[in-house]
Amino acid sequence: MSLDVDFRFQAPDARAPGAFAVPRDGRVPLTRPIVHVLDRRDPEVAAALGAVVLPRPERDLLAGIHHADRRAELTERRAALRLAVGAAIGLAPPLVPLERGPVGEPLVTGLGLHVSASSRGHRLAVGLWNRPIGVDVEAPIAEAALPRTRMHAREIAAVDAAAPAERAITAALVWAAKEAVWKAAVMPVSRDPRGFAAAVDALGQVTVADPDHPAVSGIARWLPELEGAVAVVVSI
Ligand SMILES: CC(C)(COP(=O)(O)OP(=O)(O)OC[C@H]1O[C@@H](n2cnc3c(N)ncnc32)[C@H](O)[C@@H]1OP(=O)(O)O)[C@@H](O)C(=O)NCCC(=O)NCCS
Repeated sequence: MSLDVDFRFQAPDARAPGAFAVPRDGRVPLTRPIVHVLDRRDPEVAAALGAVVLPRPERDLLAGIHHADRRAELTERRAALRLAVGAAIGLAPPLVPLERGPVGEPLVTGLGLHVSASSRGHRLAVGLWNRPIGVDVEAPIAEAALPRTRMHAREIAAVDAAAPAERAITAALVWAAKEAVWKAAVMPVSRDPRGFAAAVDALGQVTVADPDHPAVSGIARWLPELEGAVAVVVSI
């Protein structure tokens, strides 16, 4: 059965009271993964993200990014993550206990809540779930940009099998699925990404053949208005 995801195409509302009463064990009672898919070109999204004040250490880190567009993208990615978690549990974004784990993964400390974030230019997505989750967004990937050296042979074959006009979108879906698997499994950089194969079927269902990791479930969608692919993968 395909993964049931609560997709939301608007910025989380910072003023919303916490939708969930967090029980004492810290487990946020979500009934399905929430994934905000945002277009940074949308003025409402830009305003909501721009209003988030990041904690000082995060601002200092981001200030070191030389390229202004990239700095803005990564700043909005952190803002979106804080806004989404804050809106879910009723905390102001700067107070969200967000840290970075050993391989760069985002961690919400003290709550049984898993999060994931991704951006590619104007495309931005953040996901929340009470089990490990990975989200990824991708732009269409042209033939010459396909990262073949980091892909499983079956993934390359799936892209090559698509009609030429569909190939860039198929590549984006497959690569988004692969990176979402990578994030849900919190793989270390030492892992060879050619060692597992992600696949996206005609209904957008993501399956993974990975001898080294427990089962995951996921979906990948092409969103024409976003001009991008989004994939969501969770541990089961
Ligand atoms: C983790 C990785 C997949 C992120 O992908 P990306 O295209 O660079 O960037 P995205 O915007 O999609 O995601 C970035 C976010 O992923 C999260 N992240 C980073 N490393 C992570 C990991 N190992 N596990 C889970 N999440 C991770 C962070 O939240 C980061 O955002 P932040 O720095 O603002 O907190 C990538 O950096 C990586 O590790 N690549 C090396 C391994 C590889 O080649 N994999 C091939 C694909 S399977």
